[in-house]
Amino acid sequence: MAYLLGIDIGTSGTKTVIFDLQGNTIASSTVEYPLYQPDIGWAEQDPKDWWDAVCSTIGEVLQKSAVKADSIKSIGLSGQMHGLVMLGNNGEVLRRAILWCDQRTENECAEITTRVGAERLVEITANPALTGFTASKILWVRNNEPEVYEKCKKILLPKDYIRYMLTGEFATEVSDASGMQLIDIKERTWSDEILRKLEIPKELLGNVYESVEISGRLSKKAADETGLAENTPVAGGGGDQAAGAVGNGIIKEGVISSTIGTSGVVFAHLDKPVIDSLGRVHTFCHAVPGAWHVMGVTQGAGLSLKWFRDNFCISEIESSKYMEIDPYILMDEQAGKVPTGAKGIIYLPYLMGERTPHLDSRARGVFFGLSAAHTRRDMIRAVMEGVSYSLLDCMEIIKNMGILPRIVMVSGGGGKSPLWRQIQADMFACPVSTNKSSEGPALGAALIAGVGTGVYKDLNEACEVAISTKNTQDPNVQNVEIYRKYYPLYKKLYKDLKESFKIAYEI
Ligand code: XUL
Repeated sequence: MAYLLGIDIGTSGTKTVIFDLQGNTIASSTVEYPLYQPDIGWAEQDPKDWWDAVCSTIGEVLQKSAVKADSIKSIGLSGQMHGLVMLGNNGEVLRRAILWCDQRTENECAEITTRVGAERLVEITANPALTGFTASKILWVRNNEPEVYEKCKKILLPKDYIRYMLTGEFATEVSDASGMQLIDIKERTWSDEILRKLEIPKELLGNVYESVEISGRLSKKAADETGLAENTPVAGGGGDQAAGAVGNGIIKEGVISSTIGTSGVVFAHLDKPVIDSLGRVHTFCHAVPGAWHVMGVTQGAGLSLKWFRDNFCISEIESSKYMEIDPYILMDEQAGKVPTGAKGIIYLPYLMGERTPHLDSRARGVFFGLSAAHTRRDMIRAVMEGVSYSLLDCMEIIKNMGILPRIVMVSGGGGKSPLWRQIQADMFACPVSTNKSSEGPALGAALIAGVGTGVYKDLNEACEVAISTKNTQDPNVQNVEIYRKYYPLYKKLYKDLKESFKIAYEI
């Protein structure tokens, strides 16, 4: 028997899955690691934690499944996008990685805009300078930790660091590289103009592959550390959003996905690059060769509910241990008892600033409309609704670009909750479906790697074989009406508070 391995280096943990060639999960393992927040709006992780998690999850799936290492045909990598990993002369990690949700680089964004020119930047990279993207993080280290920058010999994204550990190759692929803001999105390669204007030497960056290309083979050292077979091919893979889209079958126009992981993303496939001139959504290269995608990103989606869980749902956490279930199931039950509209509480999910639609790193979370009559369960529902309003913001911009969904595939942790799925159906006023497999990015990465090694002819064939819809939830007409009334208020709240966020930041 032949198998495929998918590894997803997420923000909350690393998930490794062995799939059969029909996309069925044979064994899965997840290991969590800490997120360091040394200051407000900062977010870092230790790349060593990722590597340890990769080694232990691979060990566990091999053991659980009893699959022989040499039956694994290829390895696909997926990971949180935009994170900055800096390596020294001997491949040593120079500092903790600065992550996608880190907001410290406002000054560097201004510097990038001045150096490149606002219009030219959008023309080449499809976005204005954003605090989330890697380019501003590189400049931040150069400006604030020159001694680290001096020593830096290679810059890698999170999953590409794992590629380096597995194969010894310094490489990336088009979908993840798009989020560095250093490639020419239309040409699918490093932009010499951007690199020159930002004075970033090209030698610091790895080779850029198409996602389905094989970027290297497992080294003897990595084989010893992971238990996999030496020389197993490692494909380019994809950023978690592009890989997740493949794992949800978003490889042609007309199907849109809405994913609630730590971040929340509305994602649509594009045959040609279409750019929002205001840069509120990202146009990036897709993992499908010769295709692009557009996505709106809300920074604090699952992150908001996790934050609420960890700070205010201690009783659910405790009870869930005894019941051996996920605390989110108990929180769902609570929220399910609250009527649509959360009794007038509106939550703005801007705990880590916001990308789509505001591009505002100073925005912060808000509960609006609290009264003494409200309870904690109303707030849980408000968090779920607030995140969904924010996904609706993404959906509206994408629709205004002329991309109309026939169907919305919902996935991620949020896609597992029937309640959160229904809230999304009611907000989008459109049926939402889930896939049989909920492995998203890990499945997508494995399929991408399967194409790379010729197991499948192309991603169309891979998705036809491995992906099928499990269930569909229709919108409820009354709830659609309720959200139609609340949505303008949700949007107004940010406008009303924008100036106050700025004042609060400057105090
Ligand atoms: C996408 C983004 C996040 C991260 C973490 O632009 O920043 O989705 O990839 O999941």
